[in-house]
Amino acid sequence: MGDEPKYLLIRGMYPSIRLNLQHYLWKYGLGYNLHPQIPLTGANCKIADLGTGTGIWLLDLAQQVPDSTQLYGFDISDSQYPHEEHLPRNVHLSVLDHLSPNPPIELQGIFDVVHLRLFLGNVPGGDPTGFLKHALKLLRPGGYIQWDEFDPLRGVAEGAGGEPSPEVEKILKFMQTVKDHSWVERLPVTFKEFGLDNIEVVFAHEQLWQRKMASEMSCSVIDEMEQSKHPVIAGKLKALGISVPMAFSEVMQGARITQPFCVAIGRKPFKAG
Ligand SMILES: C[S@@+](CC[C@H](N)C(=O)[O-])C[C@H]1O[C@@H](n2cnc3c(N)ncnc32)[C@H](O)[C@@H]1O
Repeated sequence: MGDEPKYLLIRGMYPSIRLNLQHYLWKYGLGYNLHPQIPLTGANCKIADLGTGTGIWLLDLAQQVPDSTQLYGFDISDSQYPHEEHLPRNVHLSVLDHLSPNPPIELQGIFDVVHLRLFLGNVPGGDPTGFLKHALKLLRPGGYIQWDEFDPLRGVAEGAGGEPSPEVEKILKFMQTVKDHSWVERLPVTFKEFGLDNIEVVFAHEQLWQRKMASEMSCSVIDEMEQSKHPVIAGKLKALGISVPMAFSEVMQGARITQPFCVAIGRKPFKAG
């Protein structure tokens, strides 16, 4: 996977709409934005969302936390951010590369919670530790990391009654092989290796009523990847004979192409070792 693209998707109007819809699938699928075991203590909590995209996770969280909670979103690109005039006063969005080993000194160790979601298209060479090290530098001792991912390797592609459904199966095969995603299932173990405690894992498939929406989203992700025109992606799509319209017509017949919501949380210890 040496020639893997750095970013598999595109940024623009429809990708932003998809990210925003996807957020609500996550939220209603799991029942929360912030894992219920993460305590928000103190009047002036600081929460960071890394790779925030459209900022939707933070913007929605802003409706649930006191105005004194400061919410910081970062991304390598600000092209999907709302206009700053439209942000709540406690939401701050800026540009930052989370693969840089040394985040700005003024951001180090100040956050009570650091959240990451949907980095699976960005993790280089199947190794999330560059992102994890960056996230842990931002976190204060005793603060929590929450990392949310879809796991294609535990995805499901099948017809309405569980029978084979060839076009959606091809899409799942593509999602499973376009990058090395084996790190997603290992994330809680990786947290342990990095010395985190209070580790919890959540693994949930979409609810039945979300099945068509989740399947449409999977199709639209492939559509975005096609539009990226990256030669490696285009080659893999062609090799598997993928057709989004044909997969979508199977979805309209009740087929499913979905991936589970996987959430891992862990606490940065107060003392090292
Ligand atoms: C699939 S989107 C997910 C957006 C958001 N987390 C959500 O769940 O709606 C992945 C985001 O990660 C950002 N990203 C990728 N590599 C990054 C990096 N090295 N540093 C910061 N952001 C990055 C992308 O620009 C993109 O906005």
